[in-house]
Amino acid sequence: MSKVLSAVAWPYANGPRHIGHVAGFGVPSDVFSRYMRMAGHDVLMVSGTDEHGTPILVAADASGVSPRDLADKNNRLIVEDLVALGLSYDLFTRTTTRNHYAVVQEMFTTVHNNGYMVERTTLGAISPSTGRTLPDRYIEGTCPICNYDAARGDQCDNCGNQLDATDLVNPRSRINGETPDFVETQHFFLDLPALGDALGEWLDGREASGTWRPNVIRFSKNILEDIKPRAMTRDIDWGIPVPLDGWRDQPTKRLYVWFDAVIGYLSASIEWARRSGDSEAWRQWWNDPDALSYYFMGKDNITFHSQIWPAELLAYDGRGAKGGQPGRYGALQLPTEVVSSEFLTMESRKFSSSRGVVIYVRDVLDRYQPDALRYFICAAGPENSDSDFTWAEFVRRTNGELVAGWGNLVNRTATMIHKTFGEIPAASELTSADEDVLTTVDEAFGVVGELIGGHRQRQAIAEAMRVVGDVNKYVTEQEPYKLKDPAERQRLATILHVVAQCVSDCNLLLAPFLPHSANAVDLALGGEGAVAPMPRIDEVDDLDGGPSYPVITGDYTTAPAWRRHPIVVGAAVAQPSPIFTKLDRSVVDEELARLGIRGL
Ligand code: MF3
Ligand code: ZN
Repeated sequence: MSKVLSAVAWPYANGPRHIGHVAGFGVPSDVFSRYMRMAGHDVLMVSGTDEHGTPILVAADASGVSPRDLADKNNRLIVEDLVALGLSYDLFTRTTTRNHYAVVQEMFTTVHNNGYMVERTTLGAISPSTGRTLPDRYIEGTCPICNYDAARGDQCDNCGNQLDATDLVNPRSRINGETPDFVETQHFFLDLPALGDALGEWLDGREASGTWRPNVIRFSKNILEDIKPRAMTRDIDWGIPVPLDGWRDQPTKRLYVWFDAVIGYLSASIEWARRSGDSEAWRQWWNDPDALSYYFMGKDNITFHSQIWPAELLAYDGRGAKGGQPGRYGALQLPTEVVSSEFLTMESRKFSSSRGVVIYVRDVLDRYQPDALRYFICAAGPENSDSDFTWAEFVRRTNGELVAGWGNLVNRTATMIHKTFGEIPAASELTSADEDVLTTVDEAFGVVGELIGGHRQRQAIAEAMRVVGDVNKYVTEQEPYKLKDPAERQRLATILHVVAQCVSDCNLLLAPFLPHSANAVDLALGGEGAVAPMPRIDEVDDLDGGPSYPVITGDYTTAPAWRRHPIVVGAAVAQPSPIFTKLDRSVVDEELARLGIRGL
């Protein structure tokens, strides 16, 4: 049994989240966490909304509200969506808590004391017409590396390189097109070159473990080759103050949003511990070298998780070329694995909220079952390469695999048992066909578990569904519905017992992927309907006197162990109602019309 930190990327609170986001960070982290709990590990799954930085400011400006009000509104929407999807966070909080501010400032202070935050004079952009500073993202120009003509002042979306606004050729304001003035301004830079050797050593060790996805390790090693100091402060008035004399009270100097956001993993762990009643409990996941940590995100986040965050940790620990001492949190462990997914497209298009090419999580959950969306993401998501969501494929998978495969097996099993015995019957002597199907299903725990543990969820769910197919085949071959003669009743009882056991096993195999229906299936077979513990929303007070806010939390300790649990003979089985809703073909045209895309 290990301590396992499931560190899930923090969604920006600049708007509601679309299905591309939850395909990248949400569902994969939940499947992994649910499985690891069932496998006996002590999982701490944390995240929250990412509420500072330019994206929130831009969105707030656009809708004429304060950044705080905008963040409050979107935080709540996102919390509701993630709970509706069944994501089992131990704590989902936000970056505007006082606890988060204090943890971020402690990190900055120690990194600074250890010598890895260096002050430099740089050139910052100013709008000549307004005199206000222009954040990097508001500046557009030609990428000096690939010549893409719409690169932003913080990065180029074409070649993926991080940029400074001053690197851009022909810089212009995205607000009004004017050419910015560049004036001298002071900033703190994280001394990445002084941490480069330590980062390289850590990455080599991670590569040797052989568990990282090849794309992720390759990209991470690549960006290490051209390592430069990076600014960790911004000329902006929305963010966490820099905790140094002469900086603290300057209204337009704030910590860079990415500096603070990644610290959220630690601050959320501390907040969770403080709320649990044992305020030091977080240390078991952070200070112990045997603890494991898995970070889940989309590929646009890799740099921050395989370079910036590990560098912040190494600097805090005093493990770079300049030495140093850990601060009061002690030596903090670096990520075990950066689990990054690729991109989801939609009907072959890139998601774009601004262009309306988007499917919001809320809209899907209003119209369809959460497990139908989860199933699509697990079976066809962008795990190792980009993948495409289409409504036709969503309908096909829901009807062909969930309804006709798994739902049908559950339904006919419960119906037959209800009609014949009304309860789970006892088995008598087993035939070799009975033994075979029981063995096949039992062995799947090892196979499926290993695949989920290795972040190969597409293969894992395919394997679980293959076993469902084997059980369906067993029922078809045994023809229990033909055994009507009283002399055949014992054989009928045995077959139905075997099927019920197999369905119960398959249900546990699928529970990490399909938690809502796992509880419904368990109920249908006479269980308590609690095999997949569900998250809830609590309204909490800020621990340090700030405004109250909603968090996602839950008690997941009741999750059953990852193995066969003998079915309870005598448990009453009622006439079931269908677990999954069959979708009409018209769904495809309706949804394409909503998107403004014409059907075929
Ligand atoms: N808000 C970022 C995004 O949506 C992710 C931040 S992950 C964190 O791309 F760890 F930095 F918080
Ligand atoms: Zn470029």
